[in-house]
Amino acid sequence: MKIVYASRSGNVEKIVNQLGYADTLKIEKGNESIDGDYVIFTYSTGKGQTPKPVEEFLSHNPGVQAVVGSGSMEKHAATFNYAADNISKAYGVPVLAKLDGVGTEEDLKALTQALKNL
Ligand SMILES: Cc1cc2nc3c(=O)[nH]c(=O)nc-3n(C[C@H](O)[C@H](O)[C@H](O)COP(=O)(O)O)c2cc1C
Repeated sequence: MKIVYASRSGNVEKIVNQLGYADTLKIEKGNESIDGDYVIFTYSTGKGQTPKPVEEFLSHNPGVQAVVGSGSMEKHAATFNYAADNISKAYGVPVLAKLDGVGTEEDLKALTQALKNL
C-alpha cells in the first residue's frame, strides 16, 4: 500500500518514517498525482479543518482507501483530528488511527497492523 502524507511541522512525517514504508509521497501543494490505491495521513488545522493541499490532492486522486490523522489533544481537544473525520465522511473510508502528536509506540504497533489488514 502506498502512503501519502502532509506534514507542516514534522509530526506526521515522523509517524510515516517510523512505519518504514518504501512507497511514500509527501503532499506539498496538492497538485501531485499518484496511481492506484493509497492511505492518506494528515494533520488538522484551523478549527478542525483539513489542510487545503490535502483537500486538493484528494479531489483529483481517486484511490484513497483509508485515513490516519495526527492532532493535538492538549491544544485542540474540541476538534481533535477532525481532518481525519472530515475525509472519512467525504470519501467513505475508515479512520485507521487518530494520533496525538507523533503517537505512542503502542499506537504505531496498532497502526502497522491496521495497515497490513487493509
Ligand atoms: C493553527 C493550528 C491549528 C490546529 N488545529 C487543530 C485541530 O483543529 N485539531 C487537532 O486535532 N489538531 C490541530 N492542530 C494540531 C496539529 O494538527 C498537530 O500538531 C499535528 O500533529 C501537526 O502535524 P505536523 O507536525 O505533521 O504538521 C493545529 C495546529 C495548528 C498549528
